Formats: sequence, C-alpha cells, structure tokens
Amino acid sequence: MVTFGGIFCVVILAVMLPCLDVALGQSTDPSEVDALGAIKRSLLDPMNNLENWNRGDPCTSNWTGVFCHIINDALHVTELQLFKRNLSGTLAPEVSLLSQLKTLDFMWNNLTGSIPKEIGNITTLKLM
Ligand SMILES: *[C@@H]1O[C@H](CO)[C@@H](O)[C@H](O)[C@H]1NC(C)=O
Ligand SMILES: *[C@@H]1O[C@H](CO)[C@@H](O)[C@H](O)[C@H]1NC(C)=O
Ligand SMILES: *[C@@H]1O[C@H](CO)[C@@H](O)[C@H](O)[C@H]1NC(C)=O
Ligand SMILES: *[C@@H]1O[C@H](CO)[C@@H](O)[C@H](O)[C@H]1NC(C)=O
Repeated sequence: MVTFGGIFCVVILAVMLPCLDVALGQSTDPSEVDALGAIKRSLLDPMNNLENWNRGDPCTSNWTGVFCHIINDALHVTELQLFKRNLSGTLAPEVSLLSQLKTLDFMWNNLTGSIPKEIGNITTLKLM
C-alpha cells in the first residue's frame, strides 16, 4: 500500500510539474534578456518610458512594450510594441537575438541609422 501511495504521488507530481514551472517564476531566455539590455542601451529615452526595463524579468515583470509567450517550455519575447514612446538613438543589432519575435513596432519615434541587417535572420518576424 505504501509503495502504491508513493507511485501515486510521483504520478501526480509528474502531471503537475509543468504548471508549477510556470507559476513559480519561470524566466525569459537569458540571451533575450541580454538583447533587451543592448536595445535599451542604444536608444535615447528622454521621457524614461523604458525605466522599468531593469526591474526583474522582462516577461514576468511587466516591462513596457514587451510581450512574451511560452514556446517549447521557455519564455520568449514575441512582441516589442514601442509605438510613440519619444525614443531616439539606434536599434541595436542584438535585436536579432530575439529568435521568436513576431512583431517589432517602433513607429512614431525618432530612431536614426539603418535597420540592422541581422534582423533578416529572425524567421518568425511578421510585422515590422
Ligand atoms: C504593467 O505596467 C503598465 C504601465 O507600464 C500598467 O499600466 C499596468 O497596470 C501594469 N500591469 C501589471 C499587471 O502590473
Ligand atoms: C512624448 O513627448 C511629448 C512632448 O514632450 C509629450 O507630450 C508626450 O507625453 C510624450 N509621450 C511619451 C509616451 O513619452
Ligand atoms: C542571428 O544572427 C546572430 C549573429 O549572427 C545570432 O547571434 C542570432 O542568434 C541569430 N538569430 C537567429 C534568430 O537565428
Ligand atoms: C522627432 O524629431 C523631430 C525633429 O527633431 C521633431 O519635430 C518630432 O517632434 C520628433 N518626434 C517624436 C515622436 O519625438
């Protein structure tokens, strides 16, 4: 009976574990966290619209304009929505590390320079 109970618990745990993972602070793919840091550093943000881009995890701490999904059991940035945020400066080539990005919206800002060619290797990108 004890053994039976033990197996039962193991089964329950195995079923519950994926849910616990999400609930107990799953975090964003580390290379994407680095990419967001690089993107922020190359922008000028006089109105401090991105001031929360250093607080906790990008996907779970509500960073302005950052939207994420769980893909293959990990949190990935799928949208950057920075429409009309008074941003200038340039778009860092590290944006290409956002490997699951679908939408990149920097409309109505004042970015200068060219669009990094590395953006071409984000195969998921649908809208820019
Ligand atoms: C996320 O931040 C925005 C402003 O940046 C705020 O309006 C919103 O209420 C916040 N949501 C949560 C769940 O904290
Ligand atoms: C952008 O700048 C304008 C002019 O200074 C200001 O009125 C507006 O509130 C700012 N918007 C944001 C999102 O920072
Ligand atoms: C795009 O290329 C860069 C550097 O060449 C690489 O670090 C990055 O992982 C690539 N991104 C994708 C989505 O393949
Ligand atoms: C962008 O810069 C131009 C010229 O410096 C300025 O007139 C315009 O208001 C700026 N737009 C935004 C969204 O900051």
